[in-house]
Amino acid sequence: MTFENLLTASENNVFIITINRPDKLNALNKKTIEELSQALLFAEGDINIRAIVLTGSGQKAFVAGADISEFANFSIEQGKALSAEGHDKLFNLVQNLKTPVIAAINGFALGGGLELAMSCHIRVASDNAKMGLPEVSLGVIPGYGGTQRLAQLVGKGKALEMIMTADMISAADALTWGLVNYVTTPETLLAKCNELAVKIISRSPVAVAAAIRAVNANYADGVNGFAIEIDEFGTCFGTEDFKEGTTAFLEKRKAVFTGK
Ligand code: COA
Repeated sequence: MTFENLLTASENNVFIITINRPDKLNALNKKTIEELSQALLFAEGDINIRAIVLTGSGQKAFVAGADISEFANFSIEQGKALSAEGHDKLFNLVQNLKTPVIAAINGFALGGGLELAMSCHIRVASDNAKMGLPEVSLGVIPGYGGTQRLAQLVGKGKALEMIMTADMISAADALTWGLVNYVTTPETLLAKCNELAVKIISRSPVAVAAAIRAVNANYADGVNGFAIEIDEFGTCFGTEDFKEGTTAFLEKRKAVFTGK
């Protein structure tokens, strides 16, 4: 697949998507959001892709936010549509993708960039990364899920502090606050993401996808997460992966999962 604003590569069942607008610090314009959506749907539909790593090109930024130049003159209605379409097309898509997505935060992750990282299932940051939701400094609020997902990850108090001050935090603080899972050097960032991906890939893909759905259920309105867990747990018993996993354990061998 070829894209205008993305680079993609596939290695050992891991699909790496690099947002490639380094001159604009990989800011998310309409085209990039569209292409990310296409790339993620493609990856989810490919049985050989078992994990996705999402990163930014260049040394400076993961993503420095939504592209401000595209919405500076928007009306109220256009602002609402921008936000709603973003939720649908990209941010909810990432969160609910059945293929695990790891954000490799290699520099600035601001506004829509941090919101994109927060939609991913796991976040790893390099020690030079800076993260923040600076929208109130532009007279707006985070509109791609930031007010919800940041509070889910770091708690309401820290989320409100970050959103109201518009300050950036360091990778070290992000780790302490639970916003990222690991911090690495810039040189080892992708290797750490790959290590996590390889471990996940060795597990049952159907169980991993069920786990994503069950954990996400806790954050969905009007959904009983425990009921979803019971259902997903039971459904696993009907899969080939479950038979293989339990048989391999009893036969004292390593399971070979087919994802069926
Ligand atoms: N939207 C559109 N363009 C952006 C952008 C964004 N969110 N973030 C950076 N860019 C562009 C700059 O306009 C500049 O383009 P130019 O060279 O054509 O003028 C280029 O990327 C480089 O950015 P620059 O500001 O010169 O880099 P810097 O190192 O001085 O500052 C930041 C880096 C991240 C602090 C600064 O770019 C910034 O504050 N960006 C906006 C962050 C933000 O508010 N995001 C939330 C949006 S809702």
